[in-house]
Amino acid sequence: MDHRMEILVGVEETWRDHNSSTKELRKSEHPYMNEDKIQTPEAKRTGSAPSVPDLMQTGAGEKSSGRAAAVCLGLLCILLLIGLITLVFLYIKGNSERDQLQTSYNNLTKERDQLQTSYNNLNEERNQLQTSYIDLNKERDQLQTSYNYLNTKHEQLQTSYNDLIQERDQLQTSYNNLIQEQDQLQASYNNLIQERDQLRTSYNNLIQERDQLRTSYNNLIQERDLLRKRFDDLVREKNDLQRTFQELGWVYFSGSFYYISSLEKSWQQSREDCWRRGADLAIINSKSEQEYIRRFQRRFWFGLTDSGIEGIWKWVDGTPLTASYWAPNEPNSYRGTDEDCAETLFYTWENSWNDEPCHRARSWICEKRSA
Ligand code: BGC
Ligand code: CA
Repeated sequence: MDHRMEILVGVEETWRDHNSSTKELRKSEHPYMNEDKIQTPEAKRTGSAPSVPDLMQTGAGEKSSGRAAAVCLGLLCILLLIGLITLVFLYIKGNSERDQLQTSYNNLTKERDQLQTSYNNLNEERNQLQTSYIDLNKERDQLQTSYNYLNTKHEQLQTSYNDLIQERDQLQTSYNNLIQEQDQLQASYNNLIQERDQLRTSYNNLIQERDQLRTSYNNLIQERDLLRKRFDDLVREKNDLQRTFQELGWVYFSGSFYYISSLEKSWQQSREDCWRRGADLAIINSKSEQEYIRRFQRRFWFGLTDSGIEGIWKWVDGTPLTASYWAPNEPNSYRGTDEDCAETLFYTWENSWNDEPCHRARSWICEKRSA
């Protein structure tokens, strides 16, 4: 039981006590409630007590007993007097007590009324308190609900707050990264601006160059057309010459004309014949040329010799031998002979060259470069 309930119970108990005491008071406020049952001195006189004439009638009957009767009567009178005095005394005393009781009764009535008023006030107050208590209880329940709701809300908010803190930290990191990126982008932007300016300059230069090139191009187009005409003339000329060479026994391969003799002469005489034809003995300076010459399947002199210094082979144009196609065990200056000139003795082999004495008579091959 809470404090307010205790107060209310206290008030009720006080009221009960008051009621009981009031009832007692009610009993006591009528001290003469059984007044009718109390015999007044008068009633006693008129009631069961014998009257004086009765006594006198009895006394007159007998003389002897008359005195006794008189004495008795005197005694009776005295007794009656005493009784009367007692009764008067008791009456006065009772009256005074009654007045006092009346005063007390009035006071108690007043007090009771005040208590009643207090009781009513208290009752009212109690009812108000009861209402307030119920309201407060309701309010407390609502507050409890609100509290629970707020508690849940608070927890949710706490969670949200924590999430927000985390999010904020992430955003802060992202922000810092963005700032860094922005700085880098700014630097890149500045570089790009510089580059753009350089490119603009280059572009302007290029425009100038382009214009110059356009002019050059137009000049070149003109030149090309002229050259094309000249080229066509030269092709025609070359084809004419090729035809003439072929008619005179020359064959064409990869920028050179080749002539193979039908006669046989020494290496030197063979060379001189080539000179007369505006050519020289053939110089074989590529694998494809070696293969082309091998296709004739003939043994002939070509333009390679070590007649200058033994063992140092040179082409007829004075250039040293680099790539060679000597047959196995060649050059060998066979059996001590002086073999200083080169021929295609082993023409069936991929490496077909042999060194041979220069005075021997062989066919030969001349070469004339077309360009
Ligand atoms: C040639 C030599 C050559 C030899 C190879 C001879 O007939 O005159 O130059 O080295 O054959 O077997
Ligand atoms: Ca040889």
